[in-house]
Amino acid sequence: MANKRFYDQLGRPLRDLRISVTDRCNFRCSYCMPSEIFDKDFMFLPRNEVLSFEEITKLATLFVEGAGIEKIRITGGEPLVRKDLVKLIRMLSKIEGIKDIAMTTNGALLKKHALELKDAGLQRVTISLDSLNDERFRKINGRNVGVDQILEGIEAAKNVGLQVKINMVVQRGLNHEDIVPMVRYFKDTDIILRFIEFMDVGNSNGWKLDQVVSKKEIFDRINKEFPIEPIKPNYEGEVATRFGFKDNDNEIGIISSVTDAFCSNCQRARLSADGKLVTCLFASEGHDLRDLLRSGASDDQLLERIASIWTARTDRYSEERLLHTDKKQIRKIEMSHIGG
Ligand code: GTP
Ligand code: 5AD
Ligand code: SF4
Ligand code: SF4
Repeated sequence: MANKRFYDQLGRPLRDLRISVTDRCNFRCSYCMPSEIFDKDFMFLPRNEVLSFEEITKLATLFVEGAGIEKIRITGGEPLVRKDLVKLIRMLSKIEGIKDIAMTTNGALLKKHALELKDAGLQRVTISLDSLNDERFRKINGRNVGVDQILEGIEAAKNVGLQVKINMVVQRGLNHEDIVPMVRYFKDTDIILRFIEFMDVGNSNGWKLDQVVSKKEIFDRINKEFPIEPIKPNYEGEVATRFGFKDNDNEIGIISSVTDAFCSNCQRARLSADGKLVTCLFASEGHDLRDLLRSGASDDQLLERIASIWTARTDRYSEERLLHTDKKQIRKIEMSHIGG
């Protein structure tokens, strides 16, 4: 199998793969899976439509061996609600050429699984935590889970040697007052805290522009209490803009998809739990790989399909967002299908 890099219509290479392993979640965050919509009647993917671990590993191997991917992130929904996830991590970590396996999780089940995940080959976790205020956090996650449970998950991840980042989605009127307390809490640890502008992903979170707290405002709020300054990206195409504290070596990040889009460097492909390749977080639909895989296609045929999808890609939604907001809402895939 030839290993070459694929470039899209705007010259962007395919470098990272994000794999969603389930569309289910044990939380109901208001900005992602609001409980009024994701209720007991909501139709989640039936089991037979979800890729097996063998199928995921087969596709991931093609991405690594055939398209030069070195970095994989496991997402959901919530990845840890998928039974035996640790087995998948073990399978993926055996693929020759993979340099980085990370996972995005809400942390609620992490205390229980941290050690086996690390032993299986997971290197990094990014844990979502939107507030340290227990009452507010219980409300945001929609399942009355307390802050302590997540802090214990974070502690467990650190103790077993996983690298840890924290993601906080900032929404005006919901948790913008929690920005500074979060910085205060994590500033003197080796955990990197990142703030994410509230995004208009999917069609169910009722997004409005005035609920977005801009990168500039997040910066100003932090900088007033804890002086920070810009630092260089770790790698080309890094989503978070990094800022270092002036009084220590630690940093924070701000992910500004709304007020300072980063599409020009976007090199991420997403594989949904039902085997669709999605070329943008805001796409209306994905490109099916599952049927081709299940029909017994050869590695070369599958790779050809992946190449044809990526090379046709023109997505730059965030750069065009403000052109869309006045118009009728376009249909978008829900975040819980592609994991951020
Ligand atoms: P590393 O740099 O490898 O640590 O990971 P990351 O920051 O790319 O991963 P993470 O999953 O933590 O990304 C943080 C959040 O940024 C995601 O949950 C999304 O909300 C957002 N995000 C990630 N990639 C994109 C993207 O391509 N477009 C947009 N608009 N948002 C993104
Ligand atoms: N806007 C910004 N970030 C979001 N996430 C989920 N929904 C949104 C949204 N509407 C983030 C979560 C988590 C990751 C999976 O995506 O907080 O960190
Ligand atoms: Fe679940 Fe994460 Fe979405 Fe919250 S943001 S509902 S934890 S998938
Ligand atoms: Fe990439 Fe789409 Fe996000 Fe732009 S909006 S950075 S193209 S995923």
